[in-house]
Amino acid sequence: MSTPSAIQENTTERIAILDTREPDAVREALKEHGAIVIRAGGAVSDFEELSNELITPMVHHSTSTTVERDVVNRDGTTSTVNKGMDYIPLHREGSYAPGCPDLLMLYCVKPADMNGPDDTGGQTTLCDGVELLNALSPKVRKFVEDAILRWSWSAPPERWMAALGAGTQDAAIERLNLLNGRLAPWEQLEAKFEGDTLHGVFQTLCVIPTKWGNRRSFCNSLLIYHYRQATDFYPKHMYVPTMGDGQPFPADMLEEISNLANERTHSTHWRAKDILIFDNSRYMHGRTGFTDTSRQIFVRMGYVKRES
Ligand SMILES: [Fe+2]
Repeated sequence: MSTPSAIQENTTERIAILDTREPDAVREALKEHGAIVIRAGGAVSDFEELSNELITPMVHHSTSTTVERDVVNRDGTTSTVNKGMDYIPLHREGSYAPGCPDLLMLYCVKPADMNGPDDTGGQTTLCDGVELLNALSPKVRKFVEDAILRWSWSAPPERWMAALGAGTQDAAIERLNLLNGRLAPWEQLEAKFEGDTLHGVFQTLCVIPTKWGNRRSFCNSLLIYHYRQATDFYPKHMYVPTMGDGQPFPADMLEEISNLANERTHSTHWRAKDILIFDNSRYMHGRTGFTDTSRQIFVRMGYVKRES
């Protein structure tokens, strides 16, 4: 159970707020709520210390160049969030490939300046995929619960090297074999090199079990793929989803899902030094567009450490 004195349900922000970085309290709150904000002050080093307690951090493939993100620590496990300033639709981080992170942890160095009290620019957004699934019409719910997604992608050398931590194709294949042995029962991976580009097809489910609580969640990256424009910061052509039979996801169903998701999407209301943590198997995340170039949010992501 969470520590009653340390947590409050904020009705404006619709997210549990914790006033401590004590790892056991954070773990318990995450298991219960799936997403929390820690509002306890602290520097980037405190954020990294907490994340090292909770997760084995990974390097995101998009840090392989400085186009999409900047790395801010020595081993590349802390980086800026996506550099664009556009609205980002909801998605599950890394859901198109094996080794998807369990948790995402964000640290607010500086929120976007607000142009008036109604300005909602630069907020990280969250949508509970469990709640969303329950809100779908019976027809769409049945469809997504049975749906298989296949993500086809191609990774140039800098990207597969960063994602796999491999300097050669042989090392990459070794790492892929390791990942293949760790796939969830509903996942499949086929990958091969053509020249120096790694091509892959990753099969997964549209609705997945949550990390904690044995719930089922509509948690995937269909919405970002279909509703975000390609930019320098979003190489959309690199990952293309289809249904298991190769057909595109039905547009009418996606529209219903998008509308219901938008009604259930809420903002973080960032304050400097806030830490946002969420279960990447339950909550989809995105961001509102903004214009303040001084907004700065750092991110770490990775795999939950076993509790000793
Ligand atoms: Fe993301």
